[in-house]
Amino acid sequence: MSTANTAKLKEQFDAGLETRADFTIDQPTERYGAVDHAVWQQLYARQTALLKGRVCDEFLAGVDCIGMPPDRVPFFDEINAKLTPATGWQIVAVPGLVPDQVFFEHLANRRFPVTWWMRRPDQLDYLQEPDCFHDLFGHVPLLINPVFANYMHAYGRAALAANDAGALPLLARLYWYTVEFGLIRDAASPNGVKIYGAGIVSSKGETLYSQQSAAPNRLGFDLERVMRTRYRIDTFQKTYFVIDDFTQLFGVTQTDFAPLLAKLAAEPAFAAGDVLKRDRVITRGTQEGWQTDGDI
Ligand SMILES: [Fe+2]
Repeated sequence: MSTANTAKLKEQFDAGLETRADFTIDQPTERYGAVDHAVWQQLYARQTALLKGRVCDEFLAGVDCIGMPPDRVPFFDEINAKLTPATGWQIVAVPGLVPDQVFFEHLANRRFPVTWWMRRPDQLDYLQEPDCFHDLFGHVPLLINPVFANYMHAYGRAALAANDAGALPLLARLYWYTVEFGLIRDAASPNGVKIYGAGIVSSKGETLYSQQSAAPNRLGFDLERVMRTRYRIDTFQKTYFVIDDFTQLFGVTQTDFAPLLAKLAAEPAFAAGDVLKRDRVITRGTQEGWQTDGDI
């Protein structure tokens, strides 16, 4: 999620795709070429091999259950045939990042916007904007998990109801540190964690870094702490927040967000790399390679 990237949207509009008022399009399957399918195949093979033993069991169960094709870009209809009966979620094709309010409206109605286009072969390792591989492979396997599916829905409803501009950064941080870059406790794994966030599972570099590097902080998840913590969009994270299990996210869905957002909007934010006295520290980072500015 993010603000609209007008350049990318314009490029897609110019390409003649019919875009509806809610920014959805029909997945233009005829536009995928051999290169797109090859990039999907390469990324899918690389990440599924790398994630074994590193990603949480719920994610792998989701991959199995949805059954994405390993050798071509999936058709969104075939994904929905598995996803919608399971948790009521569906994916909808979009030209790229959509405005926050549109994004929240989709989530509040159990629709997850998925960018239709694939990155180029020279962008396998890093891409600033989400593409089809990030959105589909990264996000959709957990949408078939009932607890996570309800968390995403609750998030969308809370975000849609929050019409105070001061709430937006708080909501963005919660999404960032859970849905995109969340870790989950696993005592038997390196640094006591496995991966579940989509920004990590769709990235070779951050899969390795988030679990194995000594540089970042890994702190126990705390809702207010997370919503007050700034983050990085240009480097690996300085801090990862670690949930004990998915029932902890169920707890978040029981939150009355309106008074909490109003309270936190008046409080200062913490830097991305801060460790506070009250934090539950799983690992304290060595800070190696950290840049001194640039927190969002
Ligand atoms: Fe994402």
